[in-house]
Amino acid sequence: MLRNEKAIVIGASSGIVRELALLLAAEGYYLGITGRRLELLTELLSKNPEVFVPEQMDNTNLEDTVSQLNELVSKLGGLDLLMLSSGTGDINEMLNFEVGKRTIDTNVSGFTNIVDWAYQFFKNQNSGHLVAITSIAGLRGNGSAPAYNATKAFQINYLEGLRQKAYKQKISIIITDIRPGFVDTDMAKGDGKFWVSTVEKASRQIVKATRNKKKIAYITKRWGIIALILRVLHFYD
Ligand SMILES: NC(=O)c1ccc[n+]([C@@H]2O[C@H](COP(=O)([O-])OP(=O)(O)OC[C@H]3O[C@@H](n4cnc5c(N)ncnc54)[C@H](OP(=O)(O)O)[C@@H]3O)[C@@H](O)[C@H]2O)c1
Repeated sequence: MLRNEKAIVIGASSGIVRELALLLAAEGYYLGITGRRLELLTELLSKNPEVFVPEQMDNTNLEDTVSQLNELVSKLGGLDLLMLSSGTGDINEMLNFEVGKRTIDTNVSGFTNIVDWAYQFFKNQNSGHLVAITSIAGLRGNGSAPAYNATKAFQINYLEGLRQKAYKQKISIIITDIRPGFVDTDMAKGDGKFWVSTVEKASRQIVKATRNKKKIAYITKRWGIIALILRVLHFYD
């Protein structure tokens, strides 16, 4: 298969994006895959060495991340799609600052560094698709994990800002905000979970939303109802 389309998937060592990397490979993409756990990237590489280019990368090392992304693009020979999924978040009842800071470093600083890089890259070539996995959690605060929900709200708002910027600058960049509800990964923490999707089902829906160039997609789709309810509740706050 001739692999003309080039993508980077960030956070591919586990969970939703590991599955997404496999699905995108099946769709014919040539893929850069990143994460901190090299052994998991190597395991993914062994599934299809012709398709994956692994890069051990910690998104919180901001300068290294930029040079590593540039290197990956050179190795791939271009970039059409960047999918950013890395994220972290912990229950933090005691408001331990270090726990909150870890979330902010990854989900705010690491996130902004990467989406800004992608925006500039796609702006320079006047095309490209940025997909980021935020969360339904970004629509409301959460007393048990305040930093997680707040950082997801930041991501949602930032992506909207970038979309406005691309529109004003008349640049053909597509920006897709993927907002999952619960998906069965290590990330789905805490009690009271419902409508928990399998990783496979969620990933299939994410690939479809990407293919359809959606601005916003709730995963699985019925979480769109919860989003609506949350927005109405906000109105009555
Ligand atoms: N699962 C859910 O219910 C759910 C719901 C809504 C939104 N989400 C979002 O979906 C995304 C993917 O999460 P997941 O559910 O697939 O959980 P996951 O399996 O824990 O995946 C998180 C990924 O982020 C990477 N990561 C974390 N910190 C990083 C850092 N500093 N630098 C580089 N990579 C880092 C991890 O790889 P390494 O550890 O190898 O670096 C891992 O591959 C997250 O943004 C999460 O907030 C998940």
